[in-house]
Amino acid sequence: MSAPRFLTIEGIEGVGKSTQIARLATALAQRGIDALVTREPGGTPLAERIRSLLLERGDEAVPSSAELLLMFAARAVHLANLIEPSLRGGRWVLCDRFTDATYAYQGGGRGLDVNAIGQLERLVQGARNPDLSLLLDLPVERALERVRQRGLGADRFESERAEFFERVRRAYLARAAHDPRRVVVIDAGGRPEEVGSAILAALRQRTWIS
Ligand code: TMP
Repeated sequence: MSAPRFLTIEGIEGVGKSTQIARLATALAQRGIDALVTREPGGTPLAERIRSLLLERGDEAVPSSAELLLMFAARAVHLANLIEPSLRGGRWVLCDRFTDATYAYQGGGRGLDVNAIGQLERLVQGARNPDLSLLLDLPVERALERVRQRGLGADRFESERAEFFERVRRAYLARAAHDPRRVVVIDAGGRPEEVGSAILAALRQRTWIS
């Protein structure tokens, strides 16, 4: 059996991550690959509690530094209790967002120092990094239109303005440009089947699937 892979799906809200992660899990299952599907922030009971703290809109200001620390606190719990045991047990992991999101949202969006993010990344992850990160990309206006059409209440991030998401998208694309072997940019503008095919092509190119 080949080594289990750690894959992440990234992108701003409204690019279709949830749809694609579910499609990918199905496509892998059809090939006999059992994958754990999880998300960040969250994935375990404690990390999901941290997620609620991060997303709820309250009266109290949440400094960006607190947001950053809570993201990594949730990640540490998630890695220790779910991601690492799964990979050790030979099971692939498909994670909806991971540390690229921290660089994009807390670094690009909030303007926090990327060196501080890097220090926390080393502390929490050691050498653990995704084997492949699929960055679903769409212009901000189109992505936010999709979020509006969903018609759900906006959480603390979704209620940010378009400029914030422009910065987030730019930071994501900059990470992909900096590490193109790990971070693959996928045009999320097509039909779900087309986006799904592009994702499978990226895995095929690495000979992880046939
Ligand atoms: P989700 O709704 O796509 O699951 O993600 C929850 C929100 O958390 C989303 O708006 C992006 C944000 N986020 C960060 O700001 N930094 C991070 O490191 C992660 C994982 C998510």
